Amino acid sequence: MSDLADAARALAERTCTGKTLVALTGAGISAESGIPTFRGEGGLWTKYRPEDVATAEAFFRDPAQSWRFHDELRRLCHEARPNPGDLGLARMQADAAAHCESAVITQNIDHLHQDAGSTRVIELHGDIMRARCLECNATTEELPVPLEEVPPRCECGGLLRPDVVWFGELLPEEAIGAARRWSERAGAMLVIGTSATVEPAASLPLIARMSGALLIEVNPEPTALTGVAEFSLRGTAGQLMPQLAELFAHDLR
Ligand code: OAD
Repeated sequence: MSDLADAARALAERTCTGKTLVALTGAGISAESGIPTFRGEGGLWTKYRPEDVATAEAFFRDPAQSWRFHDELRRLCHEARPNPGDLGLARMQADAAAHCESAVITQNIDHLHQDAGSTRVIELHGDIMRARCLECNATTEELPVPLEEVPPRCECGGLLRPDVVWFGELLPEEAIGAARRWSERAGAMLVIGTSATVEPAASLPLIARMSGALLIEVNPEPTALTGVAEFSLRGTAGQLMPQLAELFAHDLR
């Protein structure tokens, strides 16, 4: 029996008894949609220094430079479509719906889970297509892709910033609160495509595990969670999630 089949069965057992299903995702699940990850080969943080483009200090020092970086990412996210990994996860949520509640906690800012049909998506790090005014606090998703002017301005004349979380900033209170609550009551947590190195997201699988959840990791590389998870499924999300979803659907019957 392969790890994949065992993992699917263990997951279905939890789901069938009404235990909550939670996924925590990171940049790796979007890689097969053409959006680069942050760390590792070709990662965004190997090309840019976060302190130059993704901190409040960097933004105030040079809003145009910070916006050019975010606009490049906006263009990639705008063009990206859900890949088999996103669709596999959405299918698992749909199939589990008759038995239990589920949620997706994501560190990603690309909206691909919602586009794939996932429900109850908690965005920990914001949404790259949204901008927020530093004067009137209004948010907008209406800016052109690519931007016609950098830095863009609000209708009120104020400077707009991307509505994402930068290094050194707190996460939106509502989102991290909800993420902690879902992690505490998770019967199973799928951790897909994250290096699990950035807090507070990195602690969520540990919260889940401490509360008795079954932990399953989907990642081509070992991570900090590998020693903690019951199953470490080695491969890309695009390869493994459709297979896991198929086996899971079968085991639910
Ligand atoms: P990382 O770039 O740190 O990690 C990506 C993970 O995805 C690695 O463990 C890879 O092995 C794995 N991976 C790569 N390709 C994959 C694939 N096709 N399928 C599955 N897994 C794959 O990205 P995150 O963990 O998301 O924060 O990083 C967390 C946060 O750090 C980001 O949200 C961002 C960044 O700084 C902010 O910008 C606030």
